[in-house]
Amino acid sequence: MGAGGPLRVGVIGGAGWLGGAIAEAMLDAGIVKPQDLSLSYRSERPDRFDHAFWTTDNQALADRSDVIVLSVRPADWQNLNVDAEGKLLISVMAGIRLTALSERHRTDRVVRTLPNAAAEVRKSYTPWIASAGLRDGDRTVVEAIFDACGSQDEVRSEAEIDYLTGLTGSGPAFPALLAAAMMADAVSQGLEPEIAKRAVNALVVGAGRMLEQRDDCPTDIVQTFLDYRGTTAAAIEEMRAAGFDAAVSRGLSAAFRKSVRMGEAS
Ligand SMILES: NC(=O)c1ccc[n+]([C@@H]2O[C@H](COP(=O)([O-])OP(=O)(O)OC[C@H]3O[C@@H](n4cnc5c(N)ncnc54)[C@H](OP(=O)(O)O)[C@@H]3O)[C@@H](O)[C@H]2O)c1
Repeated sequence: MGAGGPLRVGVIGGAGWLGGAIAEAMLDAGIVKPQDLSLSYRSERPDRFDHAFWTTDNQALADRSDVIVLSVRPADWQNLNVDAEGKLLISVMAGIRLTALSERHRTDRVVRTLPNAAAEVRKSYTPWIASAGLRDGDRTVVEAIFDACGSQDEVRSEAEIDYLTGLTGSGPAFPALLAAAMMADAVSQGLEPEIAKRAVNALVVGAGRMLEQRDDCPTDIVQTFLDYRGTTAAAIEEMRAAGFDAAVSRGLSAAFRKSVRMGEAS
């Protein structure tokens, strides 16, 4: 809070895809008022958030903000020198560690988060972890911002963030991978591509809605279909025999390794 007043938030890289989605979610949820929101851009000022303060000067953005959301690509962060002394700094960058953020921006109030692309539709899952220097009320701000983008959890270690970077940071990618394989099979069986697309998209949306409303454990859902002993059970058993679970596990391990390497390079 600005000396107990309304929250002033700055989004470095606010012209970008994720930064813009978070800014929109914060405005919609009333976490920040347009006049208290600052956004920075590099090449082109987007035609949105007209009542917010747009700048190419990241230090000016930091100076007029209590909370700074850092949303540039990790490679661009290497050249970003912004003094955020005493401010709450929230990074959404993959791979960049709390200590590196704290040293570079001279603040011990640092939060490392990892939202995903579904922030655009307010359905991101965002794990986060904070440095020891957080003040009273900082956690509430972080929870409010990422609840506005979907749902969030504070996790226990940066290793968990590295793992979740591969698991949930990919957003729609893995469900889309399954849907793409199903669609390819449907088309190979002679279905019209447009029908196949509508069918698999409806399947994924329906599954998502059911999981959201019932909050069931996916393992229980799979077991229910296995117990039913119908066509679905036949398919699940054959997919598993062909290495479905092992393929998923190997893919997630590859993402985890890559996430750790990105952090080591920063
Ligand atoms: N997208 C995702 O699904 C996702 C998921 C989890 C985490 N993240 C993290 O979110 C961050 C942003 O990703 P994104 O997908 O939103 O990328 P993006 O669309 O490329 O956004 C980054 C923005 O930062 C701007 N920028 C770069 N350097 C700047 C500077 N010095 N000052 C002001 N603006 C600057 C870029 O401007 P230009 O237009 O000039 O390049 C661009 O508009 C990344 O660190 C990524 O790891 C993304």
